[in-house]
Amino acid sequence: MAAQILSGITIRDQIYADLAGDIVKLTSAGIRPGLAAVLVGENPASKVYVKSKIAACEKLGLASFHITPPASMTTEELLALIRELNHRDEVDGILVQLPLPPQIDSKRILEAIDPAKDVDGFHPVSVGHLVAGRPALVACTPAGVMEIFKRSGIALEGANAVVLGRSDIVGKPMALLLIHANATVTVCHSKTRNLPEVVRRADIVVAALGRACMVTPEYVRPGATVIDVGINRVTDAAQAEGFFAHFPERLAEFRAKGHALVGDVHPDVASVAGALTPVPGGVGPLTIAMLMSNTVKAARLRRGSRAAGGSARP
Ligand code: GUN
Repeated sequence: MAAQILSGITIRDQIYADLAGDIVKLTSAGIRPGLAAVLVGENPASKVYVKSKIAACEKLGLASFHITPPASMTTEELLALIRELNHRDEVDGILVQLPLPPQIDSKRILEAIDPAKDVDGFHPVSVGHLVAGRPALVACTPAGVMEIFKRSGIALEGANAVVLGRSDIVGKPMALLLIHANATVTVCHSKTRNLPEVVRRADIVVAALGRACMVTPEYVRPGATVIDVGINRVTDAAQAEGFFAHFPERLAEFRAKGHALVGDVHPDVASVAGALTPVPGGVGPLTIAMLMSNTVKAARLRRGSRAAGGSARP
């Protein structure tokens, strides 16, 4: 039986509908949540991502501040910009798009962001709150994956969950969120032995390795839920023919465009998994939705209590 396809677009729209109510409350109290997006230099992929983030702000009626300093800037100059944004009251969230140019000390930059405005959830204070199980601003991609589980009725308590990848942005925070949801969590990486065997024990697989179509049907227990965080651009025809052998429409699309986006999960996994997120249209839209959610939350926590005259709730 073919897997249930978990559409990130449907879930994103549900999240936006929920956020609309919060935004109305804040704006009627005179608070318009605002996001500052800092894009250093001209990285084409980063430009596309930041453009989508600004467009999402506009769609929801949030204020956005698109700041585009040159690739030649120094760490000190970027630190000065972050300090200025930390002090601007109308800026609730600060996002510094990664990767930064090589001369910039990325860790110092991320640590300079006021944790109250850390809508990416990358600051050590935010990570510490997540470890301690009292998170406010959680990294957007793993937070989006948790929304998929919640809104699709996928039970986590007692489930065997395997996270493929141990990055600071996805793998590590994902594992922590799953632990707090009472799953039994295994984190795998490039040095894991007998990888297919370990992954086959999972009720839930989250693939975030950055390797095109690596998770093939042999890795997946029939009926498992598979979440594909990978986004890989394929340009090689032989590779595309292998990936899309059972998906003639996708192969035709590849031939027409000369490229295609695939995840870390092979499309054939759809014939084994119980539920599967597509690429594109799965986890991707939720990363931006959670950035919007974090920006609204940051506004509520930092400025909401002032307007309401009460205490902020997490
Ligand atoms: N680059 C790739 N993913 C991300 C992300 O989630 N946030 C930021 N700031 N940069 C990224």
